[in-house]
Amino acid sequence: MTLAQEIQKRRTFGIIAHPDAGKTTLTEKLLLFGGAIQSAGAVKSNKIDMSTRSDWMEIEKQRGISVATSVMAFEYKDLKINILDTPGHEDFAEDTYRTLTAVDSVIMVIDCVKGVEQQTEKLMEVCRMRNTPVLCFINKLDREGRDAFDLLDEIEEKLGIQVRPMSWPIGMGKSLRGVYNIYENNLNLYEPNKTKKVTDVVEINGVDDPKLDEKLPSSMVETLREEIELVNGVYDELDVNAYLNGEVAPVFFGSAVNNFGVRELLDCFIDIAPTPKPRETEERLVKPDEKKFSGFIFKIHANMDPKHRNRIAFLRVCSGTFQRGSNYYHVRQDKQFRFSNATAFMAQQKETVDEAFPGDIVGLYDTGNLKIGDSLNEGEKALYKGIPAFSPELFREVINLDAMKSKQLDKGLNQLMDEGVAQLFTFEMGSRKVVGTVGALQFEVLQHRLLNEYNAKARFDGVSIYKACWISAKDPSKLDAFVKDKYRHIAKDKEGKLVFMAESKAWLQMVQDNFPDIEFHFISEF
Ligand code: G4P
Repeated sequence: MTLAQEIQKRRTFGIIAHPDAGKTTLTEKLLLFGGAIQSAGAVKSNKIDMSTRSDWMEIEKQRGISVATSVMAFEYKDLKINILDTPGHEDFAEDTYRTLTAVDSVIMVIDCVKGVEQQTEKLMEVCRMRNTPVLCFINKLDREGRDAFDLLDEIEEKLGIQVRPMSWPIGMGKSLRGVYNIYENNLNLYEPNKTKKVTDVVEINGVDDPKLDEKLPSSMVETLREEIELVNGVYDELDVNAYLNGEVAPVFFGSAVNNFGVRELLDCFIDIAPTPKPRETEERLVKPDEKKFSGFIFKIHANMDPKHRNRIAFLRVCSGTFQRGSNYYHVRQDKQFRFSNATAFMAQQKETVDEAFPGDIVGLYDTGNLKIGDSLNEGEKALYKGIPAFSPELFREVINLDAMKSKQLDKGLNQLMDEGVAQLFTFEMGSRKVVGTVGALQFEVLQHRLLNEYNAKARFDGVSIYKACWISAKDPSKLDAFVKDKYRHIAKDKEGKLVFMAESKAWLQMVQDNFPDIEFHFISEF
């Protein structure tokens, strides 16, 4: 097969959702359709269970699950589909943001009872930054959920994206009878079924087809006809280009656990979802069909066995063909490396891979040379554009509890930051080190791993910091003056970028007003 054909075959996407909306369940159903797994219950949720958070073995086990389910690939209708899993727990949101840089599109799962939840809004912001195409799946139709039109309005309003329903529920909760497939013009009748792959699909020719009257009670047919007329009146026809530009989200309704509405979603997805797209480096746009291999690291997972401190770095192939055993150029280190140990992910199995193509994810065993955001290629000085860091929510100062082990602590902190567990800010004054995270769980993970993997004892003390803002100014002398004025509050991030550590919202506002020439960014990419 030619490189162009391999690229055409691939669809690489992520499933995102607020925890509990049904991401794991939907992933499993998609794998069932693809024949990658044989029975339901095979995909384990990667949720970190808070009730067992003090049991470290349990957390380690859960980390193990999350590596196993990080990437799941399967074949469906001659296509190779790569699903990138994202952590369910919101404390690991940063990991999700980074994973989203490695996908070409996204399926967003929304619970029809709860509607758009906070985590969904945040994730959508990340999609919008990159104009990532989004498909929505409104799940749990077997429950008494909210009105379909209200849900669509809420998506448009809260997620700031236009919608176009592609299927429509017939009833909901106890009265659910089916979904009308607007995209294919057929009818999927509801029959709760947790393991079977197919449901009863009735081919019809539009909503006026008399076959509908035979299949459904007349009151439901009447409502359906009215609603479909309204849908077609209110929403424009699906414009695939607008979807590909991230402007319109096609919406499907279903119930993942009952395997209902999933086939409709998958079949439309493979029709319209993008193949691997060109990607920006600092230098130029790299097209997937360029002959030379290139890719970047978006995730690093530490080995769970502390005796072997090797890690798996997840590489997204962006162009050309990755070949195991080849020497590749590590742009940041300006060195060649050979990767003889490379893994592909098929469903839940890991297997050695000899070749990989754009859109594929390869696991590289690494002993500490790779970090998140690194680019590998065949010798060009072209770094894929950065993976953004967001201002953390929680900040704590690192206190070394064993002066003899400060080297170990520094090494441990550095490596854990490379893995993206948290962000490190070093103050200009006094070299104080402050760690920022999205959730409190990471501090426990850090402390535990520093001790167990690096033999470094540290404590994390509360500090009054509200936000870390990356700063810039058009006029460098203005920036210098600001840094001098506020030197007690200036730190550097791991890349050496200047960060203003604001103590409170009100104070930040005041500083922003007093220094109009300084730009304050809540994200490291600007
Ligand atoms: P997540 O990965 O997005 O966090 O969600 P997950 O798939 O784990 O689903 C969360 C809960 O919602 C699970 O129930 C799951 O069975 C249920 N669920 C998923 N899809 C549907 C659906 O279409 N209808 C209904 N009614 N429930 C659904 P749980 O009780 O937490 O776990 P389990 O013991 O049932 O697996």
